[in-house]
Amino acid sequence: MRPDTSNLSWHRSQISKEDRQRLNGHKSCVLWFTGLSGSGKSTLAAEIELRLHQQRIRSYILDGDHLRRGLSSGLGFSPGDRSENIRRIGEAAKLFVDAGTIALVAVISPFREERERLRSQFAAGEFIEIYVKCAIETCEQRDPKGLYRKARAGEIQQFTGISAPYEPPLRPDLIMESDKQTIEQSVSIIMAYLQNNGYIEEIRL
Ligand code: ADX
Repeated sequence: MRPDTSNLSWHRSQISKEDRQRLNGHKSCVLWFTGLSGSGKSTLAAEIELRLHQQRIRSYILDGDHLRRGLSSGLGFSPGDRSENIRRIGEAAKLFVDAGTIALVAVISPFREERERLRSQFAAGEFIEIYVKCAIETCEQRDPKGLYRKARAGEIQQFTGISAPYEPPLRPDLIMESDKQTIEQSVSIIMAYLQNNGYIEEIRL
């Protein structure tokens, strides 16, 4: 049961999200990268972060592998724990968006309903779902952390794509086929999306 929150009050800040966005010179949003382990979410997020930084745009990466050591420490990989992990990271992403920055979230986030629920908690256009699509055979071949091998050997339980489900988005904002396109192509598509939809200006050097 969740603790009673009825005795908490909301102290309003005198500065709005729009004020912070104006100060930063760009809009804020979350780029939510979802996909299998090894599909390339973190790699892509890191490349986008670099490009945004070079264009003087404020962003921050929220990566499942990192956050599970802090914000989400104590959570495992049961469906309930994964949902709680996503909920926490979603809450953190909201703070970054409110702070006027671009949150780059890289988490498997295997449940469609959870992602849709999150989207509904953001203002229109603030939650950009990017499906990092990659055949599981390719992820398994890459196996950058050796986890697929361990999952096949039964050393890791409930491993996404092997012994736990992954539900691909039905209507993602963008699809990056990491087994068909280069990282540079994916980065260009995402940067163009941000520019064409008015999140960032073309060049801010
Ligand atoms: S999520 O499902 O809750 O969204 P998250 O992205 O935070 O997952 O963490 C996934 C990372 O944890 C993987 O990239 C992998 O390094 C590691 N991991 C360890 N055990 C598992 C597992 N059973 N299933 C998936 N990933 C796992």
